[in-house]
Amino acid sequence: MLISARHYTFSQLTEAYNRTRVDYLVPMPMNEPRLREYTQVNDVDLDYSYVSVSDNTLCGLGMLGVRKGRSWLTRLGVIPNGRRRGTGSAITEALLEASQLIGVQDVWLEVIKGNIPAQKLFCKYAFEEVRELVIARRPPTPDSILLNNKIQHVTYMEHNDAIYLLSQRKQRPNWLNETESMQNVRALPVLASMGENSVRQTSRNLSAIMVELADGGQGWVSYQATFLQLTRIVVGVLAGDPTEVTAAVLQTLHQHHRRQDAIVENLPDDEQWLGFQQAGYFETFRRIEMKRSL
Ligand SMILES: CC(C)(COP(=O)(O)OP(=O)(O)OC[C@H]1O[C@@H](n2cnc3c(N)ncnc32)[C@H](O)[C@@H]1OP(=O)(O)O)[C@@H](O)C(=O)NCCC(=O)NCCS
Repeated sequence: MLISARHYTFSQLTEAYNRTRVDYLVPMPMNEPRLREYTQVNDVDLDYSYVSVSDNTLCGLGMLGVRKGRSWLTRLGVIPNGRRRGTGSAITEALLEASQLIGVQDVWLEVIKGNIPAQKLFCKYAFEEVRELVIARRPPTPDSILLNNKIQHVTYMEHNDAIYLLSQRKQRPNWLNETESMQNVRALPVLASMGENSVRQTSRNLSAIMVELADGGQGWVSYQATFLQLTRIVVGVLAGDPTEVTAAVLQTLHQHHRRQDAIVENLPDDEQWLGFQQAGYFETFRRIEMKRSL
């Protein structure tokens, strides 16, 4: 039986999610605040998200993000001993029906490359592969980075400037990196994190850095900085070679934030990704972005 996720607490949804992912390809356990944040940032609508219940036990889950003209199927999973009985299909059908009811034109999703059961399931429901996306990390670099006089001018900017730059992108970003997701970040509660024996307040604002290069290249990076990590990293190239400008912009960012580890999610595999690699990022896994038009 499928029930709207709205009738469950975040604690119950988190437990159900984790139970569906115990054997997942890339371990990604969630806790309650994280799932709450995930739904808020990504505009997940709990009214149109579903839980599968059997013998009073939650045995499956699927969520739906909803934005203008499009929806996003996410967090789909069935507990291991409940699989291959049609539950994944039933949840997928319910999410597609909800998308139709809302009146969106396109349904999007991502599946980890190599997750054959999920890929087959989505192909069965007429989703088609759009592109591969890279998830990458970069360890901190305590030493200063040599930029060889490449940089002519650096401007540090705040949240609203970052949102403006993000909104001007020409290439279609993945759902996680859409301007709407980034705008939602600020609405989240301020986090308290432990570090060096003290509790620090972590700002939810995004920051941005604009970099002008001596050879005329120009680019920017927007990101969220926490005490230990840089996340929600997006680079935009306004002029010059996409790879070189991306590398220079990221080197400037990491010069400024030497202590933090960095994570970039759902980056298209293009010239910019080469720039990320030049700046010390390495691939951790890939997702396949898929789409179905209704
Ligand atoms: C992917 C998943 C949700 C499928 O759930 P499920 O309840 O087993 O799916 P169904 O029984 O409805 O199967 C539907 C279709 O999926 C495909 N499928 C499911 N399991 C499969 C497997 N082990 N191998 C190959 N294809 C498989 C088949 O095409 C199947 O159709 P068929 O039965 O007509 O052959 C489930 O395997 C799961 O929770 N995996 C871990 C979490 C995950 O990968 N989530 C997706 C994230 S994008």
